[in-house]
Amino acid sequence: MNNQDVNDSLFIRAAFSKPTERPPVWMMRQAGRFMPQYWEIKNKYSFLEMCKTPEIAADVTMLPVDLLDIDAAILFSDILVTGEAMGGDLSFTQGVGPKFANPVRNQSDIDSLLTDVGDRLDYVANAIKVIQQRLNGRIPLIGFAGAPFTVMSYLVEGGSSRDFKLTKLMLHNHPEMAHSLLSKIAKVTVDYLNMQIEAGVNAVQIFDSWAQALSWDDYKEFSHRYINEIISGLNRKDIPVISFCKGSSVFAPLMAEAKPDVISIDWNADLLDMKGRLSQNIAVQGNLDPHILYADKKVIRERIHRLFERMRGQNGFICNLGHGIMPDIPFDNVKYAVEVIKEYRY
Ligand code: CP3
Repeated sequence: MNNQDVNDSLFIRAAFSKPTERPPVWMMRQAGRFMPQYWEIKNKYSFLEMCKTPEIAADVTMLPVDLLDIDAAILFSDILVTGEAMGGDLSFTQGVGPKFANPVRNQSDIDSLLTDVGDRLDYVANAIKVIQQRLNGRIPLIGFAGAPFTVMSYLVEGGSSRDFKLTKLMLHNHPEMAHSLLSKIAKVTVDYLNMQIEAGVNAVQIFDSWAQALSWDDYKEFSHRYINEIISGLNRKDIPVISFCKGSSVFAPLMAEAKPDVISIDWNADLLDMKGRLSQNIAVQGNLDPHILYADKKVIRERIHRLFERMRGQNGFICNLGHGIMPDIPFDNVKYAVEVIKEYRY
Protein backbone atom coordinates (compact mmCIF):
# COMPACT_ATOMS: atom_id res chain seq x y z
CA MET A 1 0.00 0.00 0.00
CA ASN A 2 1.19 3.48 -0.73
CA ASN A 3 0.76 5.49 2.46
CA GLN A 4 1.84 8.70 0.80
CA ASP A 5 -1.08 8.56 -1.65
CA VAL A 6 -3.50 8.01 1.19
CA ASN A 7 -2.03 10.87 3.21
CA ASP A 8 -2.43 13.14 0.18
CA SER A 9 -6.03 12.03 -0.40
CA LEU A 10 -8.83 14.59 -0.32
CA PHE A 11 -10.35 12.90 2.72
CA ILE A 12 -7.21 12.91 4.88
CA ARG A 13 -6.31 16.47 3.84
CA ALA A 14 -9.81 17.71 4.67
CA ALA A 15 -9.79 15.81 7.98
CA PHE A 16 -6.60 17.65 8.94
CA SER A 17 -8.07 20.99 7.80
CA LYS A 18 -5.74 21.34 4.80
CA PRO A 19 -6.85 22.78 1.45
CA THR A 20 -8.67 20.56 -1.08
CA GLU A 21 -9.92 21.33 -4.59
CA ARG A 22 -13.40 20.10 -3.68
CA PRO A 23 -14.96 18.54 -0.59
CA PRO A 24 -14.34 14.79 -0.27
CA VAL A 25 -17.43 12.62 0.18
CA TRP A 26 -18.37 9.41 1.94
CA MET A 27 -21.72 8.48 3.45
CA MET A 28 -22.64 6.79 6.68
CA ARG A 29 -24.15 3.35 5.92
CA GLN A 30 -22.75 3.56 2.40
CA ALA A 31 -22.49 -0.25 2.30
CA GLY A 32 -25.97 -1.44 3.08
CA ARG A 33 -29.47 -2.34 2.17
CA PHE A 34 -30.11 0.49 -0.33
CA MET A 35 -27.72 -1.38 -2.64
CA PRO A 36 -29.02 -4.28 -4.76
CA GLN A 37 -25.53 -5.80 -4.68
CA TYR A 38 -25.63 -5.81 -0.86
CA TRP A 39 -28.73 -8.02 -1.00
CA GLU A 40 -26.96 -10.51 -3.26
CA ILE A 41 -24.51 -11.14 -0.41
CA LYS A 42 -26.96 -10.62 2.45
CA ASN A 43 -29.35 -13.27 1.06
CA LYS A 44 -26.64 -15.86 1.52
CA TYR A 45 -25.32 -15.04 5.01
CA SER A 46 -26.50 -13.61 8.31
CA PHE A 47 -25.37 -10.08 9.13
CA LEU A 48 -22.98 -11.30 11.86
CA GLU A 49 -21.52 -13.94 9.52
CA MET A 50 -20.86 -11.12 7.06
CA CYS A 51 -19.07 -9.09 9.74
CA LYS A 52 -17.07 -12.04 11.05
CA THR A 53 -15.80 -13.44 7.74
CA PRO A 54 -12.99 -11.13 6.60
CA GLU A 55 -13.39 -11.90 2.87
CA ILE A 56 -17.12 -11.13 2.99
CA ALA A 57 -16.67 -8.03 5.14
CA ALA A 58 -14.11 -6.89 2.55
CA ASP A 59 -16.47 -7.64 -0.37
CA VAL A 60 -19.18 -5.49 1.24
CA THR A 61 -16.77 -2.70 2.21
CA MET A 62 -15.67 -2.51 -1.43
CA LEU A 63 -19.21 -2.21 -2.88
CA PRO A 64 -19.49 1.59 -2.54
CA VAL A 65 -15.83 1.96 -3.53
CA ASP A 66 -16.43 0.18 -6.82
CA LEU A 67 -20.03 1.20 -7.53
CA LEU A 68 -20.12 4.78 -6.22
CA ASP A 69 -16.46 5.79 -6.55
CA ILE A 70 -16.63 7.25 -3.07
CA ASP A 71 -13.64 9.13 -1.52
CA ALA A 72 -13.26 6.95 1.62
CA ALA A 73 -14.20 3.38 2.49
CA ILE A 74 -15.64 2.43 5.88
CA LEU A 75 -15.03 -0.95 7.42
CA PHE A 76 -18.09 -3.18 7.18
CA SER A 77 -18.96 -4.13 10.75
CA ASP A 78 -21.27 -2.87 13.49
CA ILE A 79 -20.91 -0.79 16.63
CA LEU A 80 -22.40 -3.62 18.70
CA VAL A 81 -19.56 -6.10 18.17
CA THR A 82 -17.83 -4.66 21.25
CA GLY A 83 -20.92 -5.42 23.36
CA GLU A 84 -20.97 -8.94 21.95
CA ALA A 85 -17.28 -9.48 22.71
CA MET A 86 -17.90 -8.38 26.30
CA GLY A 87 -20.46 -11.16 26.71
CA GLY A 88 -23.65 -9.82 25.11
CA ASP A 89 -25.72 -12.46 23.33
CA LEU A 90 -26.20 -10.49 20.10
CA SER A 91 -28.41 -11.29 17.14
CA PHE A 92 -29.77 -9.27 14.22
CA THR A 93 -33.20 -10.15 12.89
CA GLN A 94 -34.59 -8.67 9.70
CA GLY A 95 -37.18 -6.04 10.52
CA VAL A 96 -36.42 -6.21 14.27
CA GLY A 97 -32.87 -4.91 14.37
CA PRO A 98 -30.23 -5.79 16.94
CA LYS A 99 -31.10 -7.74 20.11
CA PHE A 100 -29.09 -8.65 23.19
CA ALA A 101 -30.85 -11.69 24.70
CA ASN A 102 -29.13 -11.14 28.08
CA PRO A 103 -29.62 -7.44 28.85
CA VAL A 104 -27.45 -5.74 31.45
CA ARG A 105 -29.72 -4.56 34.25
CA ASN A 106 -27.80 -4.74 37.55
CA GLN A 107 -24.31 -4.64 39.05
CA SER A 108 -23.81 -8.39 38.86
CA ASP A 109 -24.64 -8.31 35.11
CA ILE A 110 -22.04 -5.55 34.76
CA ASP A 111 -19.46 -7.46 36.82
CA SER A 112 -19.75 -10.46 34.55
CA LEU A 113 -18.90 -8.45 31.40
CA LEU A 114 -15.40 -9.09 30.04
CA THR A 115 -12.95 -6.32 29.22
CA ASP A 116 -9.98 -8.24 27.87
CA VAL A 117 -11.56 -9.09 24.55
CA GLY A 118 -8.96 -8.34 21.86
CA ASP A 119 -8.87 -12.00 20.76
CA ARG A 120 -12.63 -12.10 20.33
CA LEU A 121 -12.42 -9.19 17.89
CA ASP A 122 -9.53 -10.57 15.87
CA TYR A 123 -11.80 -11.02 12.87
CA VAL A 124 -12.02 -7.23 12.58
CA ALA A 125 -8.23 -6.85 12.37
CA ASN A 126 -8.20 -9.61 9.76
CA ALA A 127 -10.93 -7.88 7.73
CA ILE A 128 -8.98 -4.60 7.83
CA LYS A 129 -5.90 -6.34 6.41
CA VAL A 130 -7.89 -7.91 3.55
CA ILE A 131 -9.61 -4.59 2.77
CA GLN A 132 -6.31 -2.70 2.69
CA GLN A 133 -4.90 -5.23 0.23
CA ARG A 134 -7.92 -4.67 -1.99
CA LEU A 135 -7.83 -0.88 -1.68
CA ASN A 136 -4.11 -0.86 -2.37
CA GLY A 137 -3.75 2.82 -1.46
CA ARG A 138 -6.63 3.96 -3.71
CA ILE A 139 -8.57 5.71 -0.93
CA PRO A 140 -8.41 5.77 2.88
CA LEU A 141 -10.18 3.21 5.07
CA ILE A 142 -12.17 4.44 8.06
CA GLY A 143 -12.43 2.19 11.13
CA PHE A 144 -15.01 2.82 13.83
CA ALA A 145 -16.52 1.94 17.18
CA GLY A 146 -19.64 2.86 19.10
CA ALA A 147 -19.38 5.41 21.89
CA PRO A 148 -19.92 4.02 25.40
CA PHE A 149 -23.30 5.67 25.98
CA THR A 150 -24.79 4.37 22.70
CA VAL A 151 -23.40 0.84 23.19
CA MET A 152 -24.62 0.91 26.80
CA SER A 153 -28.12 1.78 25.63
CA TYR A 154 -28.30 -1.41 23.52
CA LEU A 155 -26.85 -3.55 26.32
CA VAL A 156 -29.29 -2.19 28.91
CA GLU A 157 -32.42 -2.02 26.75
CA GLY A 158 -31.60 -5.34 25.07
CA GLY A 159 -32.06 -3.74 21.64
CA SER A 160 -33.14 -0.56 19.91
CA SER A 161 -35.29 1.83 21.92
CA ARG A 162 -37.43 4.86 21.26
CA ASP A 163 -37.09 6.52 24.66
CA PHE A 164 -34.08 4.84 26.36
CA LYS A 165 -36.18 4.53 29.50
CA LEU A 166 -34.20 1.78 31.24
CA THR A 167 -30.86 3.30 30.29
CA LYS A 168 -31.83 6.73 31.61
CA LEU A 169 -33.26 5.18 34.76
CA MET A 170 -29.88 3.57 35.40
CA LEU A 171 -28.10 6.91 34.83
CA HIS A 172 -30.47 8.71 37.18
CA ASN A 173 -31.14 6.18 39.96
CA HIS A 174 -27.85 4.28 39.92
CA PRO A 175 -25.18 6.58 38.48
CA GLU A 176 -22.34 4.57 40.08
CA MET A 177 -23.63 1.46 38.32
CA ALA A 178 -23.87 3.32 35.01
CA HIS A 179 -20.31 4.59 35.45
CA SER A 180 -18.97 1.10 36.09
CA LEU A 181 -20.63 -0.11 32.87
CA LEU A 182 -19.48 2.91 30.83
CA SER A 183 -15.90 2.54 32.13
CA LYS A 184 -15.80 -1.08 31.04
CA ILE A 185 -17.10 -0.23 27.56
CA ALA A 186 -14.64 2.68 27.28
CA LYS A 187 -11.70 0.41 28.12
CA VAL A 188 -12.76 -2.15 25.51
CA THR A 189 -13.29 0.63 22.95
CA VAL A 190 -9.81 2.16 23.37
CA ASP A 191 -8.19 -1.26 22.94
CA TYR A 192 -10.47 -2.05 20.00
CA LEU A 193 -9.74 1.19 18.12
CA ASN A 194 -6.01 0.85 18.82
CA MET A 195 -6.21 -2.66 17.39
CA GLN A 196 -7.88 -1.23 14.25
CA ILE A 197 -5.15 1.43 13.95
CA GLU A 198 -2.49 -1.27 14.36
CA ALA A 199 -4.22 -3.36 11.67
CA GLY A 200 -4.04 -0.44 9.24
CA VAL A 201 -7.10 1.83 9.20
CA ASN A 202 -6.40 5.40 8.03
CA ALA A 203 -9.00 7.17 10.22
CA VAL A 204 -11.42 6.26 13.00
CA GLN A 205 -14.94 7.45 13.72
CA ILE A 206 -16.70 7.19 17.08
CA PHE A 207 -20.48 6.81 16.71
CA ASP A 208 -22.60 8.17 19.55
CA SER A 209 -25.81 7.83 17.61
CA TRP A 210 -28.23 8.28 20.48
CA ALA A 211 -26.52 11.04 22.50
CA GLN A 212 -29.36 13.35 21.55
CA ALA A 213 -31.51 11.58 24.16
CA LEU A 214 -29.39 13.15 26.92
CA SER A 215 -29.65 16.48 28.70
CA TRP A 216 -26.57 18.72 28.58
CA ASP A 217 -25.44 17.70 32.08
CA ASP A 218 -26.05 14.01 31.48
CA TYR A 219 -24.24 14.19 28.15
CA LYS A 220 -21.23 15.68 29.96
CA GLU A 221 -21.23 13.15 32.76
CA PHE A 222 -22.19 9.96 30.93
CA SER A 223 -21.05 10.42 27.34
CA HIS A 224 -18.52 13.20 26.81
CA ARG A 225 -16.33 12.05 29.71
CA TYR A 226 -15.86 8.59 28.17
CA ILE A 227 -15.36 9.81 24.61
CA ASN A 228 -12.69 12.09 26.00
CA GLU A 229 -11.11 9.11 27.74
CA ILE A 230 -11.18 7.09 24.50
CA ILE A 231 -9.71 9.82 22.28
CA SER A 232 -6.95 10.51 24.83
CA GLY A 233 -6.11 6.80 24.87
CA LEU A 234 -5.70 6.37 21.10
CA ASN A 235 -2.32 5.79 19.49
CA ARG A 236 -3.27 8.37 16.93
CA LYS A 237 -0.05 8.69 14.96
CA ASP A 238 -1.20 10.48 11.79
CA ILE A 239 -4.70 9.02 11.97
CA PRO A 240 -7.58 11.52 12.11
CA VAL A 241 -10.31 10.93 14.70
CA ILE A 242 -13.92 11.78 13.81
CA SER A 243 -16.51 12.26 16.53
CA PHE A 244 -20.11 11.72 15.47
CA CYS A 245 -23.31 12.09 17.42
CA LYS A 246 -26.88 12.85 16.68
CA GLY A 247 -27.39 15.97 18.72
CA SER A 248 -24.08 17.45 17.58
CA SER A 249 -25.78 20.70 16.63
CA VAL A 250 -26.15 21.18 20.41
CA PHE A 251 -23.15 19.24 21.75
CA ALA A 252 -20.42 20.13 19.18
CA PRO A 253 -18.66 22.75 21.36
CA LEU A 254 -18.40 20.15 24.13
CA MET A 255 -17.38 17.39 21.67
CA ALA A 256 -14.53 19.68 20.58
CA GLU A 257 -13.06 19.56 24.11
CA ALA A 258 -12.21 15.88 23.57
CA LYS A 259 -9.92 17.05 20.72
CA PRO A 260 -11.12 15.04 17.73
CA ASP A 261 -9.79 16.17 14.32
CA VAL A 262 -13.28 16.17 12.82
CA ILE A 263 -16.78 16.62 14.24
CA SER A 264 -19.65 15.14 12.25
CA ILE A 265 -22.66 17.43 12.41
CA ASP A 266 -26.33 16.44 12.14
CA TRP A 267 -28.57 18.33 9.72
CA ASN A 268 -30.23 20.64 12.23
CA ALA A 269 -27.37 23.13 12.30
CA ASP A 270 -26.03 25.64 9.77
CA LEU A 271 -22.66 24.02 9.05
CA LEU A 272 -20.70 27.23 8.50
CA ASP A 273 -22.07 28.73 11.67
CA MET A 274 -21.13 25.56 13.56
CA LYS A 275 -17.62 25.55 12.09
CA GLY A 276 -17.18 29.14 13.19
CA ARG A 277 -17.93 28.13 16.76
CA LEU A 278 -15.18 25.50 16.79
CA SER A 279 -11.42 26.04 16.83
CA GLN A 280 -9.76 26.50 13.42
CA ASN A 281 -8.04 23.11 13.46
CA ILE A 282 -11.26 21.12 13.86
CA ALA A 283 -12.82 20.03 10.56
CA VAL A 284 -16.55 19.44 10.14
CA GLN A 285 -18.30 16.56 8.40
CA GLY A 286 -21.88 16.56 7.23
CA ASN A 287 -24.48 17.74 7.17
CA LEU A 288 -26.99 16.88 4.44
CA ASP A 289 -30.37 15.63 5.58
CA PRO A 290 -30.39 11.99 4.35
CA HIS A 291 -34.01 12.55 3.25
CA ILE A 292 -32.84 14.77 0.36
CA LEU A 293 -31.70 11.52 -1.28
CA TYR A 294 -35.36 10.55 -1.70
CA ALA A 295 -36.08 13.79 -3.56
CA ASP A 296 -35.95 14.69 -7.26
CA LYS A 297 -32.49 14.94 -8.76
CA LYS A 298 -32.74 18.69 -9.25
CA VAL A 299 -33.42 19.04 -5.52
CA ILE A 300 -30.47 16.78 -4.66
CA ARG A 301 -28.21 18.88 -6.87
CA GLU A 302 -29.52 22.16 -5.52
CA ARG A 303 -29.11 21.15 -1.86
CA ILE A 304 -25.56 19.90 -2.41
CA HIS A 305 -24.60 23.10 -4.24
CA ARG A 306 -26.26 25.22 -1.54
CA LEU A 307 -24.17 23.51 1.16
CA PHE A 308 -20.97 23.74 -0.89
CA GLU A 309 -21.46 27.44 -1.67
CA ARG A 310 -22.03 28.04 2.04
CA MET A 311 -18.76 26.23 2.84
CA ARG A 312 -16.75 27.82 -0.02
CA GLY A 313 -13.33 28.98 1.12
CA GLN A 314 -13.31 26.77 4.22
CA ASN A 315 -10.59 24.22 4.78
CA GLY A 316 -11.70 21.23 6.81
CA PHE A 317 -15.01 20.18 5.29
CA ILE A 318 -15.95 16.57 4.51
CA CYS A 319 -19.26 16.07 2.75
CA ASN A 320 -21.48 13.44 4.37
CA LEU A 321 -25.03 12.98 5.57
CA GLY A 322 -26.14 14.04 9.04
CA HIS A 323 -26.91 10.36 9.70
CA GLY A 324 -26.96 7.07 7.76
CA ILE A 325 -28.56 6.31 4.37
CA MET A 326 -32.00 4.73 4.80
CA PRO A 327 -32.45 1.25 3.28
CA ASP A 328 -35.17 2.36 0.82
CA ILE A 329 -33.31 5.32 -0.67
CA PRO A 330 -32.96 4.74 -4.44
CA PHE A 331 -29.44 3.64 -5.32
CA ASP A 332 -29.53 5.78 -8.44
CA ASN A 333 -30.07 8.92 -6.33
CA VAL A 334 -27.05 8.14 -4.15
CA LYS A 335 -24.94 7.59 -7.25
CA TYR A 336 -26.16 10.87 -8.69
CA ALA A 337 -25.36 12.74 -5.46
CA VAL A 338 -21.79 11.42 -5.47
CA GLU A 339 -21.38 12.47 -9.12
CA VAL A 340 -22.64 15.99 -8.37
CA ILE A 341 -20.25 16.25 -5.43
CA LYS A 342 -17.27 14.97 -7.39
CA GLU A 343 -17.86 17.39 -10.29
CA TYR A 344 -17.83 20.41 -8.01
CA ARG A 345 -14.76 22.68 -7.83
CA TYR A 346 -14.16 25.45 -5.35
O1 CP3 B 1 -21.57 2.81 7.39
C1 CP3 B 1 -21.27 1.71 6.85
O2 CP3 B 1 -21.54 1.44 5.66
C2 CP3 B 1 -20.44 0.73 7.64
C3 CP3 B 1 -21.12 -0.27 8.36
C4 CP3 B 1 -21.97 0.06 9.59
C5 CP3 B 1 -23.10 -0.72 9.94
N1 CP3 B 1 -23.54 -0.31 11.16
C6 CP3 B 1 -23.66 -1.79 9.12
C7 CP3 B 1 -25.00 -2.29 9.43
C8 CP3 B 1 -21.79 1.01 10.59
C9 CP3 B 1 -20.77 2.13 10.67
C10 CP3 B 1 -22.78 0.75 11.58
C11 CP3 B 1 -22.87 1.49 12.83
C12 CP3 B 1 -24.07 1.34 13.67
N2 CP3 B 1 -24.75 0.20 13.99
C13 CP3 B 1 -24.66 2.38 14.39
C14 CP3 B 1 -24.12 3.78 14.41
C15 CP3 B 1 -24.45 4.50 13.17
C16 CP3 B 1 -25.84 4.98 13.10
O3 CP3 B 1 -26.50 4.67 12.10
O4 CP3 B 1 -26.23 5.72 14.01
C17 CP3 B 1 -25.74 1.87 15.12
C18 CP3 B 1 -26.68 2.65 16.01
C19 CP3 B 1 -25.78 0.49 14.87
C20 CP3 B 1 -26.70 -0.51 15.47
C21 CP3 B 1 -27.45 -1.19 14.43
N3 CP3 B 1 -26.92 -2.09 13.55
C22 CP3 B 1 -28.83 -1.06 14.14
C23 CP3 B 1 -29.78 -0.16 14.87
C24 CP3 B 1 -29.10 -1.93 13.08
C25 CP3 B 1 -30.43 -2.25 12.48
C26 CP3 B 1 -30.80 -1.17 11.55
C27 CP3 B 1 -32.12 -1.45 10.90
O5 CP3 B 1 -32.62 -0.50 10.31
O6 CP3 B 1 -32.62 -2.60 10.93
C28 CP3 B 1 -27.89 -2.53 12.70
C29 CP3 B 1 -27.70 -3.49 11.60
C30 CP3 B 1 -26.80 -3.05 10.51
N4 CP3 B 1 -25.57 -2.49 10.66
C31 CP3 B 1 -27.06 -3.21 9.12
C32 CP3 B 1 -25.93 -2.74 8.44
C33 CP3 B 1 -25.67 -2.75 6.96
C34 CP3 B 1 -28.30 -3.83 8.52
C35 CP3 B 1 -28.16 -5.30 8.64
C36 CP3 B 1 -29.03 -5.99 7.64
O7 CP3 B 1 -28.57 -6.15 6.50
O8 CP3 B 1 -30.13 -6.38 8.01
